[in-house]
Amino acid sequence: MSEELKNLLSEELKDELTKIFEKAMDEIANLVVSQELDQAKIEFLGKKGQLTDILRKVGTLSPEERPMLGSHANEIREKIANAIEEKRKQLVLKDGEKKIATEKIDVTLPSRRTEYGKRHPISTIIMELEDIFIGMGFDVVSGPEIEYDYYNFTALNMPLNHPARDLQDTFYINKDNVNTNVNEDVVLRTQTSSVQIRIMEKTMPPIRMVCPGRVYRCDSIDATHFPIFHQIEGLVVDKNITMNDLRDTIELFVQALLGSDTKIRFRPHYFPYTEPSAEVDVQCFICGGKDDSCSLCKGEGWMEILGSGMVHPKVLSQFDINPDIYTGFAFGMGLDRLAIAKYGIDDIRLLFENDIRFLRQF
Ligand code: DAH
Repeated sequence: MSEELKNLLSEELKDELTKIFEKAMDEIANLVVSQELDQAKIEFLGKKGQLTDILRKVGTLSPEERPMLGSHANEIREKIANAIEEKRKQLVLKDGEKKIATEKIDVTLPSRRTEYGKRHPISTIIMELEDIFIGMGFDVVSGPEIEYDYYNFTALNMPLNHPARDLQDTFYINKDNVNTNVNEDVVLRTQTSSVQIRIMEKTMPPIRMVCPGRVYRCDSIDATHFPIFHQIEGLVVDKNITMNDLRDTIELFVQALLGSDTKIRFRPHYFPYTEPSAEVDVQCFICGGKDDSCSLCKGEGWMEILGSGMVHPKVLSQFDINPDIYTGFAFGMGLDRLAIAKYGIDDIRLLFENDIRFLRQF
């Protein structure tokens, strides 16, 4: 290659370098997204980039010109690389500013409040009672609300056609009149007493349990009636259990729940699964019987709260529990009327509406 030609070539390469440099600076200046910088880096400085292309051609120059053009090309390479890094810093800063601008928090805005629920009065009573009974060494158990007729009636000494079945208007789930085995009928349990049977079926004495839960009876709805309500059942079976234990236990938990000076009284009653049986009243804890217009007792002074008795030997002996060795007592208390009396609620339906404004009051 003649000297002239080489000179021409080196001039041309210089020009090209200048063009690439200007183009690179121009493009870099106009970039707005930091990802585009990577693209520009590849385009100008990458292995197949425009600058590398030129550097390759430098090899064809004379030994005197090679270092000159080589160092010039390297200078430009460095300038472009610096420009890219400078731009990167700027863009990162801008990204940060944008983020700050869009994610700005207005601390003067009213805060969004978290609505806290309140414990339902029935749950409160159940938890209080559970605490009391656990303190006396009882187990807290539960049983199904959808129950076989057998557990709800038959095993509680209420065979088919027993008149006591009529006292509770039952929701039947599969009453088809075709079923010949009434024990397999399925009902919504009308009483938590069904759980007594489930426990005695599985457990040998000593038994000491309470079972709170929902029960169902077909009833027209008004201020004092609702087809869903709650009971707590108690059962104790052991050697030497007497009516005295029943009386003491009931007095103890009623006083723990309603106040230590609350008086109770027993009235004889009939239940098929206990003998003898009794209903228990508490002295009116609103007027103590002194107010004829009392909303709770109407001046009678007493409010019926539960049914109870000594477990019938017939019930015990269904489960290999020898009634000559073991005796027991049981009770079942309704919780809804007690709750509305305790909290001064005038309509039982409010317990089932779950209106937060109502519940917040307790
Ligand atoms: N199950 C009865 C009812 O719903 C209440 C009751 C009475 C439960 C006597 C008992 C009991 O355990 O022994 O009215």
